[in-house]
Amino acid sequence: MGPQIFLFVLATIYLSSHAQYDAVANPILQLRLLSGAGGHRIKGVNCLSWRLAVETNNLQGWKLVPQSCESYVGHYMLGKQYRLDCEAVADAAIEYAKTVKPAADGKDVWVFDIDETTLSNMPYYARSDVQFGAIAYNDTKFNEWVAEGKAPAVPAIRNLYLKVQSLGFKTVFLSGTAEKFTGIRIANLHETGYDKWEKLILKGEDQHGKSAVQYKSEKRSELVKQGYRIVGNVGDQWSDLIGTNVGSRTFKVPDPMYYIA
Ligand SMILES: *[C@@H]1O[C@H](CO)[C@@H](O)[C@H](O)[C@H]1NC(C)=O
Ligand SMILES: [Mg+2]
Repeated sequence: MGPQIFLFVLATIYLSSHAQYDAVANPILQLRLLSGAGGHRIKGVNCLSWRLAVETNNLQGWKLVPQSCESYVGHYMLGKQYRLDCEAVADAAIEYAKTVKPAADGKDVWVFDIDETTLSNMPYYARSDVQFGAIAYNDTKFNEWVAEGKAPAVPAIRNLYLKVQSLGFKTVFLSGTAEKFTGIRIANLHETGYDKWEKLILKGEDQHGKSAVQYKSEKRSELVKQGYRIVGNVGDQWSDLIGTNVGSRTFKVPDPMYYIA
């Protein structure tokens, strides 16, 4: 066999075993080779894939951030990407809000969830005994934090809240926070730039044991019965955004730290 034929055979074997398999059978790989956008494969869970599955609600009922993603989630939440992602949510919601003309009866409302939507619990979740949701949720501990009334605003969502009000919409806060925290929550909202609202709905004793989907659906249905039209609905949990009377448009704020059904 001459050297040229030898090379031809080698190249054929190579192409049939690699390039053909990879690039032809997998056109995405070809694009990746062209763009240089390689996927970083982390041992075990790929944390970006995990976060995407969480945000799309493909992954449901999960209890904890995977231990190997604690640092990833922490960096995401404290870094630029989370802020940019929240701004993208607010921008989309504002663009939509501008297309709706509120009626003169004052019944067009935007519904806002509170935790990880209007207010951020990052000072709590960044604690070493919480680890961005990689350690099991402790109701006692979390309620102690809520009772401090020190949660900062999520800036992008506060901007959205101010914007929809300036466009002539009313705002409603609908939260799974227990009613016993009403005074604390009002003070916390006021201190962080949320100055007025049509309604603030917190979870009463009578709602105990209901899932968030059930509770929030019932409260939204009550609003609709009272003649309100839910124009927009903003929350970090899918349970804020599914069920009945969800509103004309829903907007999902990122939250890879916990799942509430
Ligand atoms: C939850 O937190 C409280 C207050 O810090 C603590 O006393 C309790 O032991 C914790 N519970 C669990 C199951 O870790
Ligand atoms: Mg929330």
